[in-house]
Amino acid sequence: MSLRAVAYVSTAVAGLSTADLDHLLVDARAHNQVAGVTGVLLFDGQRFFQYFEGPEEGVARAYERIRNSHMHVDLRELHNDVVQTLHFSQWHMGCSHTEGSVLQQLSTQQWQREAEFLQDELEQAGASPALQELLAFWGQQNP
Ligand SMILES: Cc1cc2nc3c(=O)[nH]c(=O)nc-3n(C[C@H](O)[C@H](O)[C@H](O)COP(=O)(O)O)c2cc1C
Repeated sequence: MSLRAVAYVSTAVAGLSTADLDHLLVDARAHNQVAGVTGVLLFDGQRFFQYFEGPEEGVARAYERIRNSHMHVDLRELHNDVVQTLHFSQWHMGCSHTEGSVLQQLSTQQWQREAEFLQDELEQAGASPALQELLAFWGQQNP
């Protein structure tokens, strides 16, 4: 079974409330559970960063829902490629409030390197530098 992972950043629509975010997550987790999709969503109050992974079909379904959501705009894809390993298999969508600087750092060109890394190292199941940074951040939040 082929696995895929997608990472993107987007901008939340103005006036998004905590209740909206809670609703989004409940909805997303229910769909992800069925689709076998896992990952993390980071939010700094204005922008989202999301990394999600799973079987091709499930990821495609989740991505379509994400792209169609009215809760954010300006979605910019950072990474979209086949992967060998699921890194967030315990999280049908973990979520964390983050500093803007963390989100900014994760959304820089490092994910471009991720794509190159994956092409070069497709045989390896190891995490790229960009993914390692995300995993390290997530590990700190959830020791
Ligand atoms: C930042 C963000 C992340 C989302 N993540 C997921 C997800 O992981 N899986 C999923 O099925 N839907 C996801 N969605 C879709 C939301 O669950 C859905 O948009 C929300 O429940 C409200 O729907 P609406 O914006 O179309 O009215 C996401 C939406 C946004 C804005």
